[in-house]
Amino acid sequence: MSQITAPRGTRDIVYPEVARWQMLEEKVRAFYSRFLYREIRTPMFERSELFQRGIGDATEVVQKEMYTFEDKAGRSLTLRPENTASVVRAAIEGNLFDVVFPLRFFYIGPMFRYDKPQKGRYRQFHQFGVEVFREDKPELDAEVIYAAYAFLQELHLRDISLEINSVGCEKCRPEYLETLKLAARKREADLCEDCRRKVDTNPLRIFDCKQPGCREASRGFPTITSHLCDDCTEHFIGLKAGLDAYDVNFTVNERMVRGLDYYTRTAFEITSGQLGAQNALLGGGRYNRLIRDLGGPDMSGIGFAAGMERLLLHLDSPPPREPRLCFLACQSAEQRSLAMRVARGLWESGFHAYVDYSAANLKKQFRRSDRMGAAYTLILGEEESARGAVTVKDMERQEQVRISQQELVQWLKQRDK
Ligand code: HAM
Repeated sequence: MSQITAPRGTRDIVYPEVARWQMLEEKVRAFYSRFLYREIRTPMFERSELFQRGIGDATEVVQKEMYTFEDKAGRSLTLRPENTASVVRAAIEGNLFDVVFPLRFFYIGPMFRYDKPQKGRYRQFHQFGVEVFREDKPELDAEVIYAAYAFLQELHLRDISLEINSVGCEKCRPEYLETLKLAARKREADLCEDCRRKVDTNPLRIFDCKQPGCREASRGFPTITSHLCDDCTEHFIGLKAGLDAYDVNFTVNERMVRGLDYYTRTAFEITSGQLGAQNALLGGGRYNRLIRDLGGPDMSGIGFAAGMERLLLHLDSPPPREPRLCFLACQSAEQRSLAMRVARGLWESGFHAYVDYSAANLKKQFRRSDRMGAAYTLILGEEESARGAVTVKDMERQEQVRISQQELVQWLKQRDK
């Protein structure tokens, strides 16, 4: 029969790689609890409308990358391509605004985008991210960015750089967009077909296009940074001062607009110099209209998300050391039940233990123990059973001792100190 393979752009995460994932997830949890973020878990699919309204109908993500399907009742559902809209939806629906304080959330989980797969880009990928609601001062933006940067530093990631920008607000952006449209129309002949369409619908997105003609043309376009209203200008100044206070190095990239429509004011990205084309490790920004646009209170928000596959590609740390394992070798049914009693004692005392129930000969069981990297092989043979003893072989030192079954746990504890 023909083999069934995993869908393109998805990956199985198996041992020992899965140990690196667990380590990263634990680090996220431990790190963000220092800043009073609490974990939130939202469904992996939502009503399609949430993303259309939240992320923006004219974005690449919504137009080209969503996994949208109809369920059996004819509802349009979408596998979440990102989690910000979902977290906002969950906060509105659960009325978390009155319950959780501070309104700081983090999440870890898979996202789905019909992207062209390549190294660092997948169709099912994983993000960890944070969202903060209500706190609207630029100093908070600086803290969010500082924490993201500090997290990458705690992972010992090298060669990373931070770019920031302000993408304005509903007061200053409309006027700027008109100026941008005028400039883009003048260069229409140099733009790709896609971008020509965007001139009238969503000209900001032209800055994201990777086509050489569009890149060249957009270099001459006016930028939002020089069209900000007073409030946005003040916020941007506050952000830069905040980053200085936290001692974070940054550059301002006036052409960074981010690929999702909900952003207002602060936008930021951290890239890696070591990842090639898919070099964005994380990205985020402020979204002061999204909560209201999705039917919630008039409340600000800010957050970011990091690509976990990309972080792990960047991390050269070996898988964390395995805990010391006891391999229990036994043969007859009687020896097996003794081994089970001993193993129970070990598990209940917190040790890692594996019982070989196969009744294979001892030589084979030793080979298995070796392959598993066990620290100790415990032999529960005929003689040991008769004497209430166990023979312990230290696999690294290749030493063997016989001790009483009662003393085993104590002995191992002493040894592992
Ligand atoms: P985003 O820039 O679309 O933002 O994605 C954030 C990160 O997810 C990227 O920097 C990248 O590391 C990773 N990523 C995106 N697409 C893929 C892919 N196909 N394969 C692997 N990794 C990928 C957001 O998703 C926003 N929700 C971030 C945010 C939170 N803004 C405010 N709050």
